[in-house]
Amino acid sequence: MNRPIAIAIDGPAAAGKSTVARRLAAELGFLYVDTGALYRAIGYCAHSRGVDPGDSAGVEKLLPDIHIAIKYVGGVQRILLGGKDVSEEIRLPEMSMAASKVSAIPAVRAYLLELQRDFARTESVVMDGRDIGTVVLPGAAVKFFLTASPEERARRRMLEFAQKGRKVDYNALLAEIRERDYNDSHRAIAPLVQAPDAVRIDNTAMTLEETVAAMKHRVEGKL
Ligand code: DC
Repeated sequence: MNRPIAIAIDGPAAAGKSTVARRLAAELGFLYVDTGALYRAIGYCAHSRGVDPGDSAGVEKLLPDIHIAIKYVGGVQRILLGGKDVSEEIRLPEMSMAASKVSAIPAVRAYLLELQRDFARTESVVMDGRDIGTVVLPGAAVKFFLTASPEERARRRMLEFAQKGRKVDYNALLAEIRERDYNDSHRAIAPLVQAPDAVRIDNTAMTLEETVAAMKHRVEGKL
């Protein structure tokens, strides 16, 4: 078997990482791994057990009993928590902030590190998150830092919710995105930063197709 290839995509909340990563993975025939879903699952677990996601000691105590698994159904990633599929629940708006809070806890990051690396040991992957190119897969063949203006990201997130029939206030979304950007890039451990060797793509004025094409072009030039 050829050595697996890893593509890392990092960037702030709602920059379109998961959509472009999924497309890129499909075009390259690689596995898509959405690492934010793992932090969301831990945030969801804390929330549903009545533990404040910002309470490090409380969340750390939960970890030995948390069993997270990823499975692929028709090529789509699903998240299992203790065997239960929680893929829909973790997408609820309140889970975004819960995920951001638990992600600042060192024990949570340590707990998820090997789980993430395991995927890339056996499969070629497109993995998205905040610290993939810097911490999880520093040897990734190609690294991207995908970003867009906070206003554009809030607008896209609002459209996403609208498509699911959920009405969410634009200003509230914008404030949440700004707060998550701040939390994610100011935490002490594995903060959101661009890896020195990452290709930065600001897709504020780009379509999804243009973004994927630009990334694919880079990958093909590198491999
Ligand atoms: O990508 P997302 O919005 O689903 O991620 C939810 C939170 O999880 C995000 O605010 C920060 C955290 N996260 C992280 O710290 N490291 C990752 N590799 C992925 C997500």
